[in-house]
Amino acid sequence: MKVTVVGAGNVGATCADVLAYREIANEVVLVDIKEGFAEGKALDIWQKSPINLYDTRTVGVTNDYSRTADSDVVVITSGLPRKPGMSRDDLISTNAGIVKSVTENIVKHSPNAIIIVVSNPLDVMTYAAHLTSKLPRTRVMGMAGILDTARYRAFLAEALNVSPKDIQAVLMGGHGDTMVPLPRYTTVGGIPVTELIEEDKLNAIIERTKSGGGELVKLMGTSAWYAPGSAAAQMVEAIVRDQRRVFPVCVKLEGEYGIDGVYLGVPVILGKNGIEKVIELQLNEDEKQLLETSRGHVKEVMEALDKINATA
Ligand code: NAI
Ligand code: 2OP
Repeated sequence: MKVTVVGAGNVGATCADVLAYREIANEVVLVDIKEGFAEGKALDIWQKSPINLYDTRTVGVTNDYSRTADSDVVVITSGLPRKPGMSRDDLISTNAGIVKSVTENIVKHSPNAIIIVVSNPLDVMTYAAHLTSKLPRTRVMGMAGILDTARYRAFLAEALNVSPKDIQAVLMGGHGDTMVPLPRYTTVGGIPVTELIEEDKLNAIIERTKSGGGELVKLMGTSAWYAPGSAAAQMVEAIVRDQRRVFPVCVKLEGEYGIDGVYLGVPVILGKNGIEKVIELQLNEDEKQLLETSRGHVKEVMEALDKINATA
């Protein structure tokens, strides 16, 4: 299996590293626009192979998409990250241009690839990749839900002093302040979380999860990469190993949840064909309202992208 990761910055290099040391692909090609940057990162990862014992080949290129030809999966992480005071939506016009040109190159050289978008604003950049690639929704998706859910699970594990391995959760909606954590679908070793934690503590964790990306931007001056890179690699693994994992993934809704044509995070089954199935949960009225607010926000930013494209 061959996987390309576009953008050799913090998230892209982390994703490539996880793909390599966990031997998720036989070959990982890292691409960046900055001369020599991807080559250097790929060489460093390759030189780690005798220490960490893996044989995935890692290759870096500067904007040479011929080297990415016939990739099975492509992860797009190229684009500006958030700086303190910026929202993900502030990145829209710059990152949309980058995602468009990268996607053109990907489909030219790897027409059968499945594309996973990571660049922000996530839901709308996934839409941008779809507009350019014209691929069906099964093959263009965004990574955010695994990351947001991981933050929620990690905070819960800390609060309950239990292993994060035993926390199962699902979270829906856009990647931003309107994301929709679902306590009703959160369990700890099979036990409903509401039986183990007081309501105010759970609500505080939900609020911290919603601003989890911003918390890290404030601490580091740029956005996170270890968890985001690992989350993208986990999606690649589910696809290349046809694992049929159930993950929250950003996908174009086509009538599910009463929503049509909007990119939102929902639980899906991820396997060799990409999105194998969108899972439709029976939401209660409060959850439906939260999802509707999230839909409205993402739709607004999608329309902002449509306006940018119409005047380009
Ligand atoms: P970074 O600045 O470390 O890396 C971005 C890389 O993209 C740079 O090396 C840059 O040279 C490269 N690049 C820019 N234009 C390019 C082009 N046309 N072709 C190829 N490479 C190009 O940024 P970082 O931290 O890796 O973040 C990347 C993106 O991922 C940002 O948009 C960030 O907001 C987003 N992100 C999304 C998350 C999510 O959950 N979906 C989580 C974390 C970050
Ligand atoms: C994150 O959630 C900024 O989207 C990025 O870390």
